Amino acid sequence: MFKGKKIALYVTGGIAVYKVVDLMRELIKNGAEVRVAMTPSACEFVSPLTFQVLSRHFIYLNTFEENDPEVVNHINIADWSDLALVAPASANTIAKLSAGLADNFVTSALLATTAPVFIVPAMNANMYKNTVTQENIEKLKNRGHYVMTPDKGFLAEGYEGEGRFPEKTRILDELKLAMRDQDMRLPLKGKTIIITAGGTKERIDPVRFISNDSSGKMGHALAEAAWRQGATVKLITTSQLETPGYIERLAVESAAEMYNEVHTLFKEADALVMAAAVSDYSPKNVEKKKMKKQNELTLELKKNPDILMEMGRIKAPQQCLIGFAAETDNIIEYAKEKLTAKHADLIVANDVGKTDRGFNVDSNEVTLVSHTDEPKVISLQEKSKIAREIINWLIEYYN
Ligand SMILES: Cc1cc2nc3c(=O)[nH]c(=O)nc-3n(C[C@H](O)[C@H](O)[C@H](O)COP(=O)(O)O)c2cc1C
Repeated sequence: MFKGKKIALYVTGGIAVYKVVDLMRELIKNGAEVRVAMTPSACEFVSPLTFQVLSRHFIYLNTFEENDPEVVNHINIADWSDLALVAPASANTIAKLSAGLADNFVTSALLATTAPVFIVPAMNANMYKNTVTQENIEKLKNRGHYVMTPDKGFLAEGYEGEGRFPEKTRILDELKLAMRDQDMRLPLKGKTIIITAGGTKERIDPVRFISNDSSGKMGHALAEAAWRQGATVKLITTSQLETPGYIERLAVESAAEMYNEVHTLFKEADALVMAAAVSDYSPKNVEKKKMKKQNELTLELKKNPDILMEMGRIKAPQQCLIGFAAETDNIIEYAKEKLTAKHADLIVANDVGKTDRGFNVDSNEVTLVSHTDEPKVISLQEKSKIAREIINWLIEYYN
């Protein structure tokens, strides 16, 4: 997402400047081109040389140091950038931005930029809570700037409070979100998509359960792919896989819990993608205490709700329903039957009988079975690429 992005990094005076060195390296590692400008106060905390060596570019410090007669530096960086990142943003610079002051290189360039502005405040908790700082932040937000909330925790001053420079992963996640939301052309913008992932766990007793080999990788890859195309994604998952902060994650365990979440959210959704491997059965009685070892044990199972079938029954005509069919034989035939029986719009059929694809591995080969087209094989490749193909099908469907 950062590949080829031109990021102007504006560093202001706060104790968190040293953390921004690492943030800058991460952005560069992810393909961004970064140019840095620092306030005089920022230079008190970390030498510009550190930023210069690691960004491989000289650092903008002084508005009046104009070495190239062809350009005016603060206007040049303002026009060059796709994104203006202010990190850490001091209370002082936030106040100046809110008032429209341009008294150093950083504030002058920020006043001149037309790029989206992303601000990462970091300061003492009382400075942050101060009404005037809050009013300034509100003003910046109202002007369309993205202002992060700082982390809560142990501050440099030696006490707990809200004002810490946020964790790097959270900054990167929110940056991606802000950058994505700038792009109005994304095809799934305005669409809400529910995606289910992982194998459900059906409890036998507090320590035992029935489950299957699904890892959730396919569903999580679909969530990422749909989000990248502009959708609001709600991921209902049983998986322990990590999800980026920009995807709303609802953790569930059993088929019944998954059914409840899907049922609650489905009314407001434009599409449901059932990539989860939902157990067909669950124990009729769940033991409250751990069962003792016995010579023989018969488990009585009851049928679980068929989530795809139920949503197919209540779906509105404009809602799109995508199901998965994990089979070991007669794959296309079963997929066609499922398509009709469940009132789905697409069945993604996959062969789980082979070890290099399907459950619990990073690759998959699937066949897309719909009412309108001939079955389309998406050959063996990474699940992230398969996910993109499925989401492309959804985009075509909306077109
Ligand atoms: C040790 C030390 C730590 C500071 N940490 C912060 C900080 O984290 N956040 C902040 O807003 N100001 C902090 N300040 C105060 C700013 O550096 C000061 O307000 C300065 O004028 C900011 O200038 P600038 O906005 O032009 O960079 C700190 C000052 C000192 C001496």
